[in-house]
Amino acid sequence: MALRVGVTGPTGEIGKAAIAALEEHPDVTAIIGMARRPFDATAEGWTKTVYRQGDILDRAAVDDLVADVDVVVHLAFIIMGTRTESARVNLAGTRNVFEATVAAARPRRLVYTSSVAAYGYHADNPVPLTEDVAPRGSAEHYYSEQKAACEAALAEITDGSDLEVYVLRPCIVAGPKAPALADAMPWNHLPGPVRRVTRALPLLRPLPDPGTPLQLVHHDDVAAAITLAVTTTSAPPGAYNIAGDGVVSMSQVAEAFGAQPVRVPRAAAVMTSELLSRLPFVPSVLEWLHAGRTSVVMDTAKATSVLGWRPRYTSAETLSALASTVR
Ligand SMILES: NC(=O)c1ccc[n+]([C@@H]2O[C@H](COP(=O)([O-])OP(=O)(O)OC[C@H]3O[C@@H](n4cnc5c(N)ncnc54)[C@H](OP(=O)(O)O)[C@@H]3O)[C@@H](O)[C@H]2O)c1
Repeated sequence: MALRVGVTGPTGEIGKAAIAALEEHPDVTAIIGMARRPFDATAEGWTKTVYRQGDILDRAAVDDLVADVDVVVHLAFIIMGTRTESARVNLAGTRNVFEATVAAARPRRLVYTSSVAAYGYHADNPVPLTEDVAPRGSAEHYYSEQKAACEAALAEITDGSDLEVYVLRPCIVAGPKAPALADAMPWNHLPGPVRRVTRALPLLRPLPDPGTPLQLVHHDDVAAAITLAVTTTSAPPGAYNIAGDGVVSMSQVAEAFGAQPVRVPRAAAVMTSELLSRLPFVPSVLEWLHAGRTSVVMDTAKATSVLGWRPRYTSAETLSALASTVR
């Protein structure tokens, strides 16, 4: 099998790991990556990959990308941004990618990285979440709402087409080359001199732990799942939960980053979330607090037994790998 693969968002945390993994696979003969920034694929040591600058909001650029590939991998997304700007790119841009892929003659497969956030933070969701649970999203968190909307658009746009559609739903991705979790910590948004003082005094870096368990997955394990979805000849299309084994607590996250864990009752996280959802205007970054109000631990049995995915790192090992880089 000789596969040409088109990838949106190859310059991101998952994108770089995914391209590196696809480059290693013997069935993948060529990769075309597209994102907005200038980027040198050869500087990454990639030999099968050609990079082009392009915006998923530009339908002509997306048409060009998908025209000459067998598999489209859609990773481009705005994760941390304002509600308005992220909606523009994530909803309209993702729709462009799905519609262009369906309309093009050559692609036979589409791999889309959704997220655990697509399920939404609903008290009546089962724990653990399986792929049978409908991705309802949570309207009060822009990212969750948009991830669920993208999955709904995917189902609508690909309905009746011959395209093989693989949807991966990773939990929080981390590792030495995926520092977004560490970057998001509140003290990293303090002015430089204040931040330096807090580094020496963990007490000045308090991190609330409402007891909600967290799953983490290593970027290289997500890359392996994407590569399996691109190349598998045995696993059927469909949704697959992707998470490292085990869970970590926010207290462990705090300790890993040299911060001070502060246990708070789960009820406090629920109350904060309810309060935020009633306020008329909430800065988009605060909407992420909704994610702490309930467990969204996923069952990954389908990915392991059907897709043949074996994560090399547990959630705890992924956290350690990230912490050893950022500290
Ligand atoms: N990181 C996580 O914890 C996590 C967890 C679950 C699911 N996911 C999902 O996995 C996917 C990849 O995430 P990531 O962590 O790699 O994100 P990331 O590091 O923020 O990278 C985002 C990528 O999208 C590209 N992009 C953004 N807007 C674009 C546009 N308008 N046109 C073309 N390219 C655009 C960016 O490149 P330019 O800025 O150069 O355009 C970059 O390559 C996303 O769908 C994300 O929701 C991520």
